[in-house]
Amino acid sequence: MTNRADTILYLDGVSVAFDGFKAINNLSLVLKKGEMRAIIGPNGAGKTTMMDIVTGKTRPDDGSVYFDGTVDLTTHDEAEIAILGIGRKFQKPTVFESLTVEDNLALALSGSRRVFDKLFRKAGTEKDRRIREILETIRLTHRRDWLAARLSHGQKQWLEIGMLLGQDPKLLLVDEPVAGMTDAETEETARLLREISASHSVIVVEHDMHFVRELGVKVTCLHEGSVLSEGSLDHVSSDPRVVEVYLGR
Ligand SMILES: Nc1ncnc2c1ncn2[C@@H]1O[C@H](COP(=O)(O)OP(=O)(O)OP(=O)(O)O)[C@@H](O)[C@H]1O
Ligand SMILES: [Mg+2]
Repeated sequence: MTNRADTILYLDGVSVAFDGFKAINNLSLVLKKGEMRAIIGPNGAGKTTMMDIVTGKTRPDDGSVYFDGTVDLTTHDEAEIAILGIGRKFQKPTVFESLTVEDNLALALSGSRRVFDKLFRKAGTEKDRRIREILETIRLTHRRDWLAARLSHGQKQWLEIGMLLGQDPKLLLVDEPVAGMTDAETEETARLLREISASHSVIVVEHDMHFVRELGVKVTCLHEGSVLSEGSLDHVSSDPRVVEVYLGR
């Protein structure tokens, strides 16, 4: 078992039941600092519930949940966990359609710890620099003056990822980012997340196996609230138990 001190996320023996149904069942999942992990598994496996537990939306009945080696997340609420540096992207994009791309980012940045630190010193230029940097990362430099409403579905997802980056999180949780994207957008999203993972820890939940292959990272397959298989995509996708409950559907 990895030394907890080297981890960005450490779940051990975590369980949660809803009306007696164990959505998460003795789950242990460890993410090293700086790691990007892909999570797969059939509908109802507990992937989103796992994210709910990490972000404080759902309180586990049992087990430990540690962030950044030492922070016991079970003692913090959702708002505190966001401030601690865990950003979450839900499946549906929630950008402000009537604002420009740039203003969406500016709004996201105004709440960030990094900008607050510099509020009374050259805050303007720092903010502009960050916005330019994020626009590059999310492939929207040429769309900065567009209303978000005009963006494609994929571009809205990227903008929302950019808004998360504006909060300067240490860990990003991304739930089904490529659902509804074109093939080209899906491939670009894999590249984009690989770039982001150079400076952030990331958990990506996805059903799109082509996309998971493009990510090129360690994979965890959840089933009935616990880890069924873990390792390289080749290892996990040739695991007969994974084929039986998921890939062979
Ligand atoms: N708040 C809740 N109350 C009751 N049951 C819940 C709640 N949240 C999740 N569940 C149940 O827990 C199980 C796990 O759901 P979850 O949404 O985590 O699965 P998932 O792996 O994200 O599936 P999908 O791939 O379909 O998104 C499901 O049976 C779901 O109905
Ligand atoms: Mg889900």
